[in-house]
Amino acid sequence: MTCGRGVEPEGEVMGRRSFLARCAAVLGAAIAAVLGSTGLSYFISPAFKKDEEDWVDVGGTKDIRPGAPVKVDFVARKRDAWAVTEKRSSAWVATKDGREFTAFDPRCTHLGCPYRWDQAKEQFLCPCHAAIFDAGGAVVSGPPPRPLDRYDAKVVNGRLLIQPIPRRRAA
Ligand code: FES
Repeated sequence: MTCGRGVEPEGEVMGRRSFLARCAAVLGAAIAAVLGSTGLSYFISPAFKKDEEDWVDVGGTKDIRPGAPVKVDFVARKRDAWAVTEKRSSAWVATKDGREFTAFDPRCTHLGCPYRWDQAKEQFLCPCHAAIFDAGGAVVSGPPPRPLDRYDAKVVNGRLLIQPIPRRRAA
């Protein structure tokens, strides 16, 4: 076949077409690999994460005055692989200086009754078996085997955040 002006030899056209087809196939495979790995990691990664709970914002620190513990309610979200569960809970939050805060598990360490703060006595009182805890959560009297359990707490931009997993404290 002669090669006129504007007409390419048939073998050259076929070579270019097959080259472009291969390039398209390689590009398509690369895109599929990137998208596939991203999608796969999105679906698989939760399975490799340990159970975790997020910090929970329980309010502004200016609402908590020194010497007057406040009970705060919150919703804790727990992530376990793909499942997210929510649980309503609360904490007693106290501060001595308005800068550092302590968050107590609201359950008595004897048998788990809810206790309350008595401002006149400046103590936590558990009505179930007459336990008394001081403002720092230490047992003053009664049957509880250990101080009040605590949540980890931190202040970020004037907001109090707690990690809603109570930490058991030694007796
Ligand atoms: S549950 Fe609080 S004293 Fe028994």
